[in-house]
Amino acid sequence: MKKVLVIGGGGREHAIVDALSRSPQVGKIFCAPGNAGIAQQAQTVAIKDTDVDALLEFAKREGIDLTVVGPEAALAVGVVDAFRAEGLKIFGHTKSATRIESSKEFAKQIMEKYGVPTASYKSFTDYDAAWDYVKARPFPAVLKYDGLAAGKGVVIAENPEEAQAALKDMLLDSAFGEGKVVVEDFLTGPEFSFMCFVSGRKVYPMPLAQDHKRAYDGDKGPNTGGMGAYTGLPFITAEDEAIAYESILCKVADAMVQESCPLSGVLYGGLMKTADGIKVIEFNARFGDPETEVVLPLIESDIYDIFEAVAEGRETAEPCFVKDVTMGVVLASKGYPGHYEKGFEIEGLDKVGCRVYHMGTKASDGKILTAGGRVLMCVCRADSILEAKDKVYKEINRLHCDNLFYRKDIAHIALEK
Ligand code: AMP
Ligand code: GLY
Repeated sequence: MKKVLVIGGGGREHAIVDALSRSPQVGKIFCAPGNAGIAQQAQTVAIKDTDVDALLEFAKREGIDLTVVGPEAALAVGVVDAFRAEGLKIFGHTKSATRIESSKEFAKQIMEKYGVPTASYKSFTDYDAAWDYVKARPFPAVLKYDGLAAGKGVVIAENPEEAQAALKDMLLDSAFGEGKVVVEDFLTGPEFSFMCFVSGRKVYPMPLAQDHKRAYDGDKGPNTGGMGAYTGLPFITAEDEAIAYESILCKVADAMVQESCPLSGVLYGGLMKTADGIKVIEFNARFGDPETEVVLPLIESDIYDIFEAVAEGRETAEPCFVKDVTMGVVLASKGYPGHYEKGFEIEGLDKVGCRVYHMGTKASDGKILTAGGRVLMCVCRADSILEAKDKVYKEINRLHCDNLFYRKDIAHIALEK
């Protein structure tokens, strides 16, 4: 039986652990650092996800057969390179391949060079040059800080004042570190997430999902890490999906091989269906969060086989997914994504009749406490979105906690159709 180490400690990693626990080959799962929910399905290990030396030492000591990386931060510090240098099997991209997410400019250059459809752009390091360019163009202006910023590096400035303030932050005040800014055209249309397992040039698609980035109902309020997601998107046709697969995901996988940094993990296309065709908003070099929590419950294939094949740079059988749809709602701490308090008890977890992935929880004296901005995600599977929605909100009602809030309108775009 195989021993697996999952790196990370959020809802995405809980969903990965859950999928691995359904593999008949997997005997023992460790998760570093994990969380209180993951601890019910895996042995958690108190190692930070970016502490490469400690992770490596642990994997060697335990005789781990395969390591699976969740967060981009771990990829960006080169955990995959370090494991491979020691001959250890690991699912995730090298540091060099992770640039498809960690550097907006690299991603844009690849798209331009290989003809992948995306908004046209220009990049700047000089504040005056950036400001001159932005103020002469139509608003809103899309300003992207070039570097890993945990989803916080994009500003859609509605007017010159907002644009100037953001450019100052990014280029003068170094709020995000040493600065480079990509300024791009503002696109409109529904967004969706297309995640694929990629092993070199081989690209294995997963079901499409849609995330809800704004904090409040009606897509209002500040941007968050994601407040809910669902699969079964009625506004994307099979033809749209085939075009996105061929002309975006496969093209980038090929490009990365040609650029000598082949992919060996998940490629996540953050795509938009514009009036002018499907275009790339961003790429991530990892599973999306919260998309993974709605996509992986549908996988029928043994996920260990897929992870292992990709880690070894081989091909594998086409992954199979159940035809049902899923819907997941995130319960977040009141105040998130701004200031919030932690340490509130969550009751009723044992009464919930659906999957509950823990995003930010902690166990203390036999109780489960809130320990992050996004705390839990309840996920239901059904024949239709309407049914999944009814189920998931019913199950959420069984939970009690004084300091959580959630959106009541997940999948509204699909249900308005
Ligand atoms: P990103 O981190 O690049 O995904 O950007 C975060 C969010 O900003 C996206 O999910 C979009 O909603 C929005 N966004 C990014 N780029 C554009 C663009 N070129 N046009 C319109 N909206 C955008
Ligand atoms: N759901 C967006 C992300 O994972 O970046």
